Amino acid sequence: MDSNARPNLIANTADNFSINVVNQMTDQRLELDTSIHWHGILQHRTAGSDGTAQVTQCPINPFNSFKYRFSTDGQAGTFWYHSHVGTQYCDGLQGGLIIRDPNDPYSKEDWVGKPGYYDVDDDSTIVTLRDWNHLPSWEAFDDLSGEPEPNSTLVNGRGRYVGADPDDVPLAVIGPVNSGKSYRLRIINMSCNSWFRVSLDNHTFTIIEADGVALSINNANREVDSFTIFPGERYSAVVKADQLPGNYWFRTNPFPDINGWSPEEQMRDPGLNNAIFRYESVPIEEPKPGQIPTLCPMDESKLKPLVPPAQSECDKADQEFFLPIVAINDQTEEERQNRSIPHYQLGNGSWIPPSLPVLLSVIRGEALPGNTYPIEFGKTIDVTFLNTEDDSSIEGAHPLHLHGHEFSVLQFRGYKTDCRNPPRRDTIAVYDGNVTVRFRTDNPGPWIFHCHIDWHLDQGMAAVFAESRYEMLYGNNSIVFPPGWESLCPIYEGDK
Ligand code: C2O
Ligand code: CU
Repeated sequence: MDSNARPNLIANTADNFSINVVNQMTDQRLELDTSIHWHGILQHRTAGSDGTAQVTQCPINPFNSFKYRFSTDGQAGTFWYHSHVGTQYCDGLQGGLIIRDPNDPYSKEDWVGKPGYYDVDDDSTIVTLRDWNHLPSWEAFDDLSGEPEPNSTLVNGRGRYVGADPDDVPLAVIGPVNSGKSYRLRIINMSCNSWFRVSLDNHTFTIIEADGVALSINNANREVDSFTIFPGERYSAVVKADQLPGNYWFRTNPFPDINGWSPEEQMRDPGLNNAIFRYESVPIEEPKPGQIPTLCPMDESKLKPLVPPAQSECDKADQEFFLPIVAINDQTEEERQNRSIPHYQLGNGSWIPPSLPVLLSVIRGEALPGNTYPIEFGKTIDVTFLNTEDDSSIEGAHPLHLHGHEFSVLQFRGYKTDCRNPPRRDTIAVYDGNVTVRFRTDNPGPWIFHCHIDWHLDQGMAAVFAESRYEMLYGNNSIVFPPGWESLCPIYEGDK
């Protein structure tokens, strides 16, 4: 089953990764430097391969290359990779990263005495979702009078914009599927702005994975009609092909507006932003518009990992941070444009990428840049976020993503989750009340925690946790750098 327009990478959990990124960009309209981040990969002891420009490395200049080296440390599931320079991934530098584990509970084969726990016959489908601006991102994002609105959305690289001739643009097809079989769909939201409500007409989903974490099946994720997926998030949804063979809408309803069209308007014209779920040997055609199912949405605050945490998350943390999201509305257009005063603060400050990457400042023992928080090794850290903007509804949600760690979600929309086995993931949407996440400092490195709406990151919505300077440099957990890491950087003042 293949309908993937994106260059997806498929690997195995036992693999050692060595990925040479060669920068051949010459298009002057684009940002020319680059770096590639492996979204969701923890990078234990390999912070230098995290790929975050001005945090873990200097960018790769045109005609230069850099070989990222890391291993998964047992991780398996659905990940992705993307540029981490400016807003460059919005221009298309991105793809899926699937890590399989031959012994994992997803497969039909035995898994620790639980054969076929998830009952999946086919695990070959990747569904990438994203929004798309016709202008290069830096131009689209230059109009700071409001949020840049995408022109359209894409499923596996395909989609229509309002006014496009449908005959010119065939939609993505998922399938053909065989009656009676179960399919695992790995769904990745690679958007720069939009989140989606995903549903499949006449079918239900069982959600078995969130952000690379295998889930135990309960009422929150069994046979749901729809789920929301925010930028940076991934889910695996099992679909049983148990309906009358035919063509069905695989709906990916975007929020907020696209091209001036509200989510409701988008919904009425399914040809605009959806894909087709097709059974084997049925005529190739688009389904009728149909009804929108909204009966039983997934509750992301009740997604329980299949393997509960080794240590319960009910105790108090060693250190607590409160990082409210604050919009600054009184800077001038010029101050926004040149980022001297960005539009957003996360906590007491904004993230303005320093010229010296944080990791290099640490190595050299220099002062850390603004909105960077040193934390110690071996501690339990709680971070609480709150959206203080006027509109704190789900439409304006901020999906916050942490590098270097998965976290437990202890509070979601102001409500406590089950601290014995809370949701665990690497991206969480902040809206409508406090969100508290917890991680343990077992992975030295400078890790950015940022909104995955790229325009918000570009406007300062990020903080960096500088996790244990001592451990980064010395001892059992010290960082192993790939060859050539430091020579990506220009010679700085004082180096001579
Ligand atoms: Cu998808 Cu900073 O990452
Ligand atoms: Cu945001």
